[in-house]
Amino acid sequence: MSAALPANATVAVIGAGAMGAGIAQVAAAAGHRVQLHDTQFGAADAAKKNIAESLAKLAAKGRMSPSEAAAVAGRIETVVTLPDACVAQLVVEAIVEDAAVKRELFARLENVIAPECILATNTSSLSITELAAGLAHPGRMVGMHFFNPAPVMPLVEVVSGLATSCDIAETIFATALAWGKSPVHAATTPGFIVNRCARPYYGEGLRLLAEGASDVATLDAVLREAGGFRMGPFELMDLIGLDVNFAVTKSVWEGFFCDPRYAPSVRQQELVAAGWLGRKSGRGFYDFAPQAEKPVPVSESPPPAPASLTVHGDLGIASPLADRIAASGIAVERERADSRFPGGALHVPGKAGGVWIALTDGRTATSRVVATGVRDLVLFDLAHDYAAASRLAVARADTCSEDAWTAAVGALASAGIAVSRLDDVAGLAVMRIVCALANEAADAVVQRVASPAAIDLAMQKGVNYPRGPLAWGDALGASTVRDVLDHLAAHYGEDRYRTSPLVARRAATGGTLFG
Ligand code: NAI
Repeated sequence: MSAALPANATVAVIGAGAMGAGIAQVAAAAGHRVQLHDTQFGAADAAKKNIAESLAKLAAKGRMSPSEAAAVAGRIETVVTLPDACVAQLVVEAIVEDAAVKRELFARLENVIAPECILATNTSSLSITELAAGLAHPGRMVGMHFFNPAPVMPLVEVVSGLATSCDIAETIFATALAWGKSPVHAATTPGFIVNRCARPYYGEGLRLLAEGASDVATLDAVLREAGGFRMGPFELMDLIGLDVNFAVTKSVWEGFFCDPRYAPSVRQQELVAAGWLGRKSGRGFYDFAPQAEKPVPVSESPPPAPASLTVHGDLGIASPLADRIAASGIAVERERADSRFPGGALHVPGKAGGVWIALTDGRTATSRVVATGVRDLVLFDLAHDYAAASRLAVARADTCSEDAWTAAVGALASAGIAVSRLDDVAGLAVMRIVCALANEAADAVVQRVASPAAIDLAMQKGVNYPRGPLAWGDALGASTVRDVLDHLAAHYGEDRYRTSPLVARRAATGGTLFG
């Protein structure tokens, strides 16, 4: 393994905007002398001042000593021209996201830096291969993709283009580690790891909204409280900026020659066109005006709990749900699986045969009525941890009677769970999103974008997912992921839900996606 850049090496950071300033701070905190350059007059000096102020704040909070904060700030100098950066052993570029402007900068840099100086780019979407093309030494060009804010976010994607030398990629990997970051290797394909593998989180969320599954506050609450995600898709898009999120989706979609899997949302395009960009513009999916009322997620008012129910078969990952219901005082009996629900189900006795409650398998509740002949059917969604989930999304078949529905909600609510009814959409919300995430990650493995471990680490460190998508897919079982996607594909008749060859193989053999 290559060694990290020595701490006494000089690092030049070109572009002193949000990312460049953060990267300069990280490199200086690791002990490097940092040269910060920006073409906009005064931008580098302003960034240096801001960095010094944020370091002083960290010192005031006790996160570092005042002398350490001063020393880190003191290691950053601003430089006016590129030749001033000629002593650097590593240049990290963080200028405007424009391939032509970046390539022109690299060509000029090659005239002033030493032949062994590494050229790293913080691009979030451009091909490293394309940026390196035409350089005298394309092997030294590598992606060093930090996440915003760079001093806080641990992930760094080390992205190799076709010409990137393995030694250079390893040096940058080791350097990111030495800087206290969690690096992962990735090959240069649209979106690298995170911006590609996270697309279904937004894309499926937007589709659920467009289909009228529920409102944004309810869908966000379901993804947080059942899915275990730190933020729901809509509040997250509002934070990222709808324009930025839409542009990333478009660039990944175009990068894959309009593959329907990444198709942007008309709904999101409308919001961008309206200038409703999220927090930064005061309005996005949510209204951020001070007087605006915060929308509350819709929950069913809990009806009385039924006296008893039967658990048929093994509920698998959803077993803790039955345990919670039993702990609430409802008399719970166990029986073997009913042939209509081989994956297990709950049954609450009542009029006309009682109500069946089962985990979604990617079909709508109403289409499972057709398949099973059970008219009183309620489906529940996936939860990250059924033992702890405080909310669960449910869907009611069109044929389900009011009494049966009330009994089903009463049973689930007895476990202390807020029940959010979604329209009878295929695959509900968490199951659909998690299966799409696992499938996307599996395709990134198949296409050698990164290793399974790198992908799962990247999604946890870069976007705070509660679990890596491949490990999550394994917890469900590859055959469940395949079945959910097959049902979605059949429901929509779209190539968007085609299964990754890896999911298909592992589902056939019973193997794991993580490897
Ligand atoms: P920004 O707009 O805040 O800063 C860019 C800076 O580069 C500006 O100060 C500008 O004056 C300067 N600049 C433009 N052309 C220049 C040139 N030829 N030479 C020197 N300086 C020049 O942009 P931001 O957000 O910091 O993004 C920078 C890069 O980082 C982009 O490639 C972006 O895609 C990438 N990135 C951005 C993230 C974000 O969340 N903002 C996250 C990860 C990567």
